[in-house]
Amino acid sequence: MDKLVAVDALQIGMYVKLQDDSIKGTGLEKAFFITDPGQLRQIRGLSLRYGKVYVDLDRQWQPSPIDDMSHAAESEKRETSVVEPESSPEQAQQNSVDRIKQAASDPSMEPKKKAAAVYQSAREIMQTLFECPTAEFIKDTKEAVGSLVDMVLEDEEAANALIKVTQHDYYTYTHSVNVGTLSICLAKKLFQTDTASHDMRELGAGFFLHDLGKVRVEKEILNKPSRLTEAEMKRMRIHPYQSYKILQESSQLSEECRVIAMQHHERDDGTGYPLRLKGEQIHVYGRICCIADVYDALTAKRSYKEAMPPFEALKIMKNEMLHHFHREIFNNFVMLFSK
Ligand SMILES: [Fe+2]
Ligand SMILES: [Fe+2]
Repeated sequence: MDKLVAVDALQIGMYVKLQDDSIKGTGLEKAFFITDPGQLRQIRGLSLRYGKVYVDLDRQWQPSPIDDMSHAAESEKRETSVVEPESSPEQAQQNSVDRIKQAASDPSMEPKKKAAAVYQSAREIMQTLFECPTAEFIKDTKEAVGSLVDMVLEDEEAANALIKVTQHDYYTYTHSVNVGTLSICLAKKLFQTDTASHDMRELGAGFFLHDLGKVRVEKEILNKPSRLTEAEMKRMRIHPYQSYKILQESSQLSEECRVIAMQHHERDDGTGYPLRLKGEQIHVYGRICCIADVYDALTAKRSYKEAMPPFEALKIMKNEMLHHFHREIFNNFVMLFSK
């Protein structure tokens, strides 16, 4: 039975049906189970007639074991209360920052649960940041990423679980969390005997914010459900420099970490952009981010392609794209998935 429900009353687990005109260019499906708070916020951000959507009350969401794990923290919350709309983006962001800090530093939380809770909060934080890329929100994000970095450095089990909990959808904020997480795990592996020489928290923020400049690319290009034309690609290629500029304007990161934003699309053989840098001209931080970025782009689901399984993506990177990467860093990246 379909019923019109106000968007503020939507809850995780509901099967929602959306009108074609309201989802155009958003990457959202027409009908789906709401499985995370990010989707809730995205639906609330749509322009909807009367602020209501249809919900099929007969359909019950059955979480798979992996969903179950990912949404453990959310389910616990639902048992005691309905999802309440947060009063403002600032409040929502503060709540997410508090949740990530609490979960990341909770010694009693089981590693898989901890990783799932941290991952979900990180996605919420990045979603808000992409909606409001202000200096204040960049500062909040840096603080939250710092907690995630501490967890990765201190809790090996939770760090491994974090790699496995990654989801693959259409959203730039999910991509940012995946690339940020994988890059920080790779940096830990590469600098393991020498993490003191690198500001890992600062570095983590650089990885998470590498694509922030996409907020300055037109939404129609960003959300285009098919492949981009050459002209659209040209617009898209402004984003590394724009990420760099936003971070510079906000004075939130060191120059070394802003380099990540600028260089994450450079390729070892000089075929990347924006500066066509080659080999040693590319900073090690940029090289790390480049590998994680390509991997996540291959494994992500797009409306014009299915998600590629992790092993398949690594195989393609090794057999067809190795000239794009620093070989030793790539070998270390592959090892992240052997645990
Ligand atoms: Fe990028
Ligand atoms: Fe990226």
